[in-house]
Amino acid sequence: MRARLVAGNWKMHGSRTSNRALLDAVIRGMSEISGVECAVCVPFPYLAEAAVQLARSAVGCAAQNVSEHAQGAYTGEVSAAMLAEFDCRYVLVGHSERRQIFGETDARAAAKFVAAQAAGMAPILCVGETLEERDAGRTESTVARQLDAVLEKAGVAALAKSVLAYEPVWTIGTGRNATPEQAQAVHAFLRGRIAGRNNEIAARLRILYGGSVKPANAKALFSMSDIDGGLIGGASLVADDFLEIVRAAESRG
Ligand code: 13P
Repeated sequence: MRARLVAGNWKMHGSRTSNRALLDAVIRGMSEISGVECAVCVPFPYLAEAAVQLARSAVGCAAQNVSEHAQGAYTGEVSAAMLAEFDCRYVLVGHSERRQIFGETDARAAAKFVAAQAAGMAPILCVGETLEERDAGRTESTVARQLDAVLEKAGVAALAKSVLAYEPVWTIGTGRNATPEQAQAVHAFLRGRIAGRNNEIAARLRILYGGSVKPANAKALFSMSDIDGGLIGGASLVADDFLEIVRAAESRG
């Protein structure tokens, strides 16, 4: 079966001191957890230090964003090859905050996906609908459009070395949850769409759920058949909460 993955997305939080304490606690906690992969998406300036601290631990280093360009005059951008130098195993691509606040298009997310893989990292492609889109009955067409942009550019085979994350925009940082059934329905839709191109890749692809995942709701979400772990924002900043969520993924068995 698919190995569970729980990734923390720190977003724009942290400091050198608080990161050290948080990573210490997560590394310690992970030494007693088996059967779940764990990673943390660290802000760029802290990657070098985090990579040293995470080396030889059970916690993977990951980034939150990447340029679609390999190098050049792109002030303020960070290339995939640069991230790979700091042991980044994963990088988020197309997070809804990038799409909504920074105007990233589907095409740009697809280009970032390709750039990340070219540098040997696994992109975590984030898709999800806004509340307006959900209310208008456009959940499936929205996530399909976001997924298809990557399928068209990278090809279905590229998904074998990636992770998908369904993050309904209306649940991110709002304390509002998709119910496990709502989330499962979209996960199954996404897997089915990929299966239409390649059954085996669809069956192996890990699809994470993200959006106000907390210790109290993680178990119910992770018990759904197409939910293979989580992408955790706020709760990943508190070691005990994050570890409890990782354990909830472990207990699915
Ligand atoms: P929250 O868990 O804070 O809702 O954030 C979810 C998210 O955006 C993870 O990438």
